Amino acid sequence: MASAIRRIAVLTSGGDAPGMNAAVRAVVRCAVAQGMTVVGVRNGFAGLVAGEFTPLTVRSVGGIMQQGGTVLGSARCPEFATEPVQRAALEQLAAQGIEGLVVIGGNGSQQGSAALARHGFPVVGVASTIDNDLAGTDITIGATTALDVALEAIDRLRATASAMHRAFLVEVMGRKCGYLALMAALAGGAEAVVLPEFPVEPEDVARALQEAQMRGKSHAIVVVAEGAPYNATAIAEHFRVHRDRLGFEVRVTILGHVQRGAAPNAFDRILASQLGAAAADTLARGEHGVLIGLRQGRVSATPLHEIAGVQKPLDPALYRLVQVLAM
Ligand code: ADP
Ligand code: F6P
Repeated sequence: MASAIRRIAVLTSGGDAPGMNAAVRAVVRCAVAQGMTVVGVRNGFAGLVAGEFTPLTVRSVGGIMQQGGTVLGSARCPEFATEPVQRAALEQLAAQGIEGLVVIGGNGSQQGSAALARHGFPVVGVASTIDNDLAGTDITIGATTALDVALEAIDRLRATASAMHRAFLVEVMGRKCGYLALMAALAGGAEAVVLPEFPVEPEDVARALQEAQMRGKSHAIVVVAEGAPYNATAIAEHFRVHRDRLGFEVRVTILGHVQRGAAPNAFDRILASQLGAAAADTLARGEHGVLIGLRQGRVSATPLHEIAGVQKPLDPALYRLVQVLAM
């Protein structure tokens, strides 16, 4: 049966994530397969409001799946939280004859999707951010590639930490969510992890490292989430000030944006292809107002109003596991 919606747009929003391009490719090709035409929006909601549209075809999205970043460009557009700016976006969509929109992005972006849906516009979100902080999906597009990058760095730091008998603080991204830090700590065999969800004081980190030393460890890696109450710089300052009492210093590596730019790994390409395809199929069926994510291994749709602004909680059992395995 031919799709009721004939013309859709797709945008990428917020922090770029590895796999966004694979999602764009899947949206375009599956939409075309369902008889729809697709317009790309450059630079997220900012570009939508400014009317930055570009035609997308099955050929123009060729060769992008393996690239990091997003060929559509992305942006932060805080004004999009306001009603008049949302209405300006709706006017742009109407002027282009666009009947549905796919928003590929993270927690903030899906609040933008929910806002457009509240205005009655057909929107489907696709869960994509390295932070994996979005309710309605077990994992977001880009998170495992960012984790791979963090792990590679941690493995290298462990080699030099071991050689020089040193303690390293490695700060990873994730905004207010500790997912990346927790998983990097688990997979990297960290001696300690510092997360927004389970706040600790710098003195607690010092105690964990002293205890590790007493158990015979000659070096240590502490993974610190950037959103923790004390970030790596603040913890290192505590060690500097109390150097004589604590007995050792720490070195800091802040991984920063290198975690974002990698080529997507196999998992993210596959996830992005599945979620992008499901987003196009959902609009083709005339359904909307949902986030497409992966829940318990299945591609699932969750109403945007249920997930907008909801941060996914961390599993406390995994936090305890990091501590047990650091023995
Ligand atoms: P991410 O989507 O990766 O979490 P941001 O939090 O920066 O990144 O959100 C991306 C964009 O989504 C913002 O720049 C803004 O345009 C839009 N957005 C964020 N929060 C809201 C909100 N409460 N209402 C409407 N739009 C929002
Ligand atoms: O949301 C993705 C993310 O990389 C966060 O982990 C980080 O806090 C933020 O974006 C950095 O934002 P910007 O690229 O605007 O500096």
